[in-house]
Amino acid sequence: MDQTKYFIIDFDSTFTQVEALDVLAEISLKNNENQAKAIEEIKSITDQGMEGGMSFRESLKKRIEILNANKRHLPELVDRLGSLVSPSFKRNTEFIDKYKNQIFIVSNGFKDFIVPIVKTFGISEENVFANEFSYDNEGNIVGFDENNLLSENNGKPNQIKSLNLDGEVFVLGDGFTDFEIKKAGLAHKFYAFTENVRREKILNEADHEAPSLDEFLFTQKLERAHSYPKNRIKALVLENIHDAAVKRLKDEGYQVEVYPGGMTEEELAEAIKEVSVLGIRSKTMVTEKVLANAKRLLAIGAFCIGTNQIDLNAALKKGIAVFNAPFSNTRSVVELALAEIILLMRNLPDKMYQMHQGQWSKSAAGSFEIRGKTLGIIGYGKIGSQLSVLAESVGLNVQYFDIEEKLALGNATQCQNLDQLLKTSDIISIHVDGRESNENMIGKREFELMKEGVVFINLSRGHIVDIDSLVQNIKNGKVHGTSVDVFPEEPLTNNHPFKSPLMGLKNTILTPHVGGSTLEAQENIADFVPSKIIEYINTGSTNNSVNFPNITLPSLSQAHRFIHIHKNEPGVLAEINNVLAKHGINIGGQYLKTNDIIGYVITDIDKNYKEEAVKDLKRVRGTLRFRVLY
Ligand code: NAI
Repeated sequence: MDQTKYFIIDFDSTFTQVEALDVLAEISLKNNENQAKAIEEIKSITDQGMEGGMSFRESLKKRIEILNANKRHLPELVDRLGSLVSPSFKRNTEFIDKYKNQIFIVSNGFKDFIVPIVKTFGISEENVFANEFSYDNEGNIVGFDENNLLSENNGKPNQIKSLNLDGEVFVLGDGFTDFEIKKAGLAHKFYAFTENVRREKILNEADHEAPSLDEFLFTQKLERAHSYPKNRIKALVLENIHDAAVKRLKDEGYQVEVYPGGMTEEELAEAIKEVSVLGIRSKTMVTEKVLANAKRLLAIGAFCIGTNQIDLNAALKKGIAVFNAPFSNTRSVVELALAEIILLMRNLPDKMYQMHQGQWSKSAAGSFEIRGKTLGIIGYGKIGSQLSVLAESVGLNVQYFDIEEKLALGNATQCQNLDQLLKTSDIISIHVDGRESNENMIGKREFELMKEGVVFINLSRGHIVDIDSLVQNIKNGKVHGTSVDVFPEEPLTNNHPFKSPLMGLKNTILTPHVGGSTLEAQENIADFVPSKIIEYINTGSTNNSVNFPNITLPSLSQAHRFIHIHKNEPGVLAEINNVLAKHGINIGGQYLKTNDIIGYVITDIDKNYKEEAVKDLKRVRGTLRFRVLY
């Protein structure tokens, strides 16, 4: 028979995020000019007590003396502590409620403020073991009940011993006095709770680290708010992705490893093994070989627009969802394209260079206004179409070509084919996506079709333009000026050298793939991509995924959600439903969407089901991934 489980939980910095006496000091010493110094002193005494550097009684006496607190300060303290309950305790009320008679709050703090807080979670006063303040006639806190076991050194073990608990005892706490219970042989496991503070010395003594209550509940297979603790989700973030994105992932509770540059295929294939979330920009190649090692990977975030650096189908076949930031830097690219059109038409890159060499060459030769010229936009997607609007507003006539039918914005006109656009544009700006078939789509033949003196801009992808043909046409004067932001081979980091046959050519602007690199765009991306990944992990919604069928799901309440990703073969849904029926599982809602490669089935069900059902679902033919969400 299973033994009864008892949970000994510390209060300060465990149940709540803070040390209550520190907060009390902030309140009681509010008008004291030495407040800051006193609080510092209290904190340092608390730490010494916590890490076993000072006897507990001594630390308590000293702190109470400095506090100079009164009974009337307590309501404000309770109020503040109430809002500072640790998030993982707040969300795991189901566990607390179910085990409230087996949970003991054992603290060296004071019942005076602990009881009102834990009572709101259903834990009764009898299950709280802590000190009690003593007051003088005016309500001043002058000391503590010295007969209380918890005011003594080694108080917690003595208190637990007196409880005579017959069962399995777990201790959860952040301090040395919590470890003492285990040390005294009175607990089966000591979990060092690190959601609020992390004390290396305590961690060294602990059986486990619990970065949150979720981890404890997961390892003990107890009722919990999250099916899988977020601290177990490892995110690997490469290529200098904005700090805000890293913070967003950390705030979600993930373990985030940041690696400044890109990684080679070999490096990534090794690093990916334990990773659940991968964040990259445009340089990291996520190949089939990399994905073969990605056993735990749930999602890839491309913190950019293009996704051709990722083998999307290979990811799909492994049930890995890919998200990008399709709109976040559109405006930044458009603004740069517009600026470059003007600079190149004025022949300014050469003039700017000459000025820096001390050469004054005032002349109108080779300089033109853009007003009334024809801009040909190849690829009328997000960037192309927005450029169309801005370009018209500065007086350009706009025509475009896209392989798909696109609505012409403003006065722009659509060209019937690429050749027509190439033959009739004064300026050509290319904004197609990076699909394989676009490799070298602008080469020798296309340059031949262009007008003499054309201005040519590529801010899309490096492999789209045949660089040798471009070089030749700049040299022979056919191309009046060019801007290139993207290259067939780009340096892996800022420390690697850049080489290109375009270097040193006239009226040529070369930029290091910065079309979308503005702080505004980076912030947009840093917000957008993590929010999509987090939504996917938490709810299964694949809204805006590049490779997964897009489904927006309702949020879960009082239900569990089975997420089943399988090879798109006939009959799988029927098999899933057979398993559910066999186990008598009641379906609250079911959603299915497929694409050529996978089927994505989400089933919301009642919480009460046997683990066996999960095992059977994992065995359904063609299963790629299976997750349960609470
Ligand atoms: P999008 O997907 O919205 O638009 C691409 C358009 O090109 C689509 O309408 C598509 O139908 C069209 N297209 C594809 N192949 C074509 C072809 N052969 N001929 C004519 N049209 C074709 O993409 P978005 O957001 O406008 O981005 C465009 C390009 O800009 C992408 O390659 C992207 O990687 C690149 N980019 C570069 C940045 C930089 O820092 N330089 C920043 C952001 C995007």
